[in-house]
Formats: sequence, structure tokens, C-alpha cells
Amino acid sequence: MGGPVVIVTGTDTGVGKTVFAAALADALGASYWKPVQAGTEECDRDLVAELGCLPSERLLPEAYRLATPCSPHRAAEIDGVSIDPERLALPSVPGPLVVEGAGGVLVPVTRSLLYADVFAGWRAPAVIVARTALGTINHSLLSIEALRTRGVAILGVAFVGEANEDSEATIAEMGKVRRLGRLPLLPRLDRASLAQAFAANFRAGDFLP
Ligand SMILES: Nc1ncnc2c1ncn2[C@@H]1O[C@H](COP(=O)(O)OP(=O)(O)OP(=O)(O)O)[C@@H](O)[C@H]1O
Ligand SMILES: [Mg+2]
Repeated sequence: MGGPVVIVTGTDTGVGKTVFAAALADALGASYWKPVQAGTEECDRDLVAELGCLPSERLLPEAYRLATPCSPHRAAEIDGVSIDPERLALPSVPGPLVVEGAGGVLVPVTRSLLYADVFAGWRAPAVIVARTALGTINHSLLSIEALRTRGVAILGVAFVGEANEDSEATIAEMGKVRRLGRLPLLPRLDRASLAQAFAANFRAGDFLP
């Protein structure tokens, strides 16, 4: 039996999932896994290595590394790779595991499988990383609805960006989700500033059963 698993998903690509996941994995002493990396010039695992300072044995290799930075289903087609859902089974590791999806919750992994369905199969709870910027209420509520429809438990929303009290409160209230905290946009993003910001704005205990 492995330890607790936390899925880090988000409202969109580029919202800050990897940055948040690096801080979370560091704070929990967790391993990190990105099952499908699409685009190998900038790998999420490398960013986590840089920002999370995890020992190499806790940075798990991806199940698939695809060349093109686009949706996994298409990146796989371009590479002539067939994604086998069985290879996306959660690895068993000692201690907690932080797993990052790709883009948002309804991103296709194959032409007949969405990431949200993979999450449901994992039977693990998810954190939704959401911007605080304009548009976030719609994106967050849509993501919450899509996860709930599939029976994925939601730990809460982790916001990234400048403070926007009404948007955060509205999402929590209308989406019936917990506000886990907000990571400000750090002018100098490095391991020390990220760890400090995470500790000041989140409680590690909120992510564990
Ligand atoms: N809290 C932050 N402070 C400063 N910059 C940030 C922060 N969060 C994210 N960024 C910037 O935004 C970029 C994109 O963030 P990140 O890679 O975490 O997004 P993502 O949601 O994981 O994207 P993808 O869908 O490609 O996996 C980072 O490389 C970083 O430059
Ligand atoms: Mg990422």
C-alpha cells in the first residue's frame, strides 16, 4: 500500500500547477509524478526538481514523454505513440504522492479518455489550481462540476495570482469548495521564495487525510 495521493489539476494550462505542485511535494515530503509530459523542451519534472528540491528518487519518471507541446492525445498521435491507460496506473511509493495532470480537467489523454476519467479511476482527491484573474469564476466552477460529475473528491481550490477576494469567495461559496490558500505571483521564483510563500499561505495538513 502506498501513501496518500494528491492530484494537482487546474482550470487551464499555464495556471501554475507545476509551481504549486513543487511547493506542495516539498512541504509534504512527497514524490512527484507527471504521467504524460507533452513537450520536452520544458519538462514539468525539471521545474519541480528546480523549485521543489526533491531528492531524485522522489521525482518519478513520466509514463510517456511526447515531443509536441499540445494535448496528450494529439501529441501521442504526432509521435506515433499509443497511450495505454494501464500505464497510467498510480505508482506505489513510500509516503505521499503528488500527481499532476496536463492542462485542465477535460483534457483528452486519448480520443476516448479524458483526464478527469483517469482521476476518477485513481480514487484520489484533487486540488484545483485556479488563477485569481478575470474569467476564473467560470473556469473554476466548470472544473468543479466536471470533477464532481465523475465522483472525483475535491480537496479545494489553490489560487495563484494577485488577491481577488470576491472571486475567491464566490468560487468557494457557489462551488461549495474549500479555499486552500493563494500563492502570490513571486517576482523572484526560486526554491526559497516558493517554500516561504507556500508556508505563509497554505497548511500542509489540509492536503493529507
Ligand atoms: N506563483 C508564481 N509566481 C511566479 N511565477 C509563477 C507562479 N506560478 C506560475 N508562475 C509562472 O508561470 C509559468 C507556468 O506555470 P506552471 O508551469 O506551474 O503552469 P502549469 O499549470 O503547470 O502548466 P501546464 O499545463 O503546462 O502543466 C511558470 O513557469 C512560472 O514562470
Ligand atoms: Mg505543469
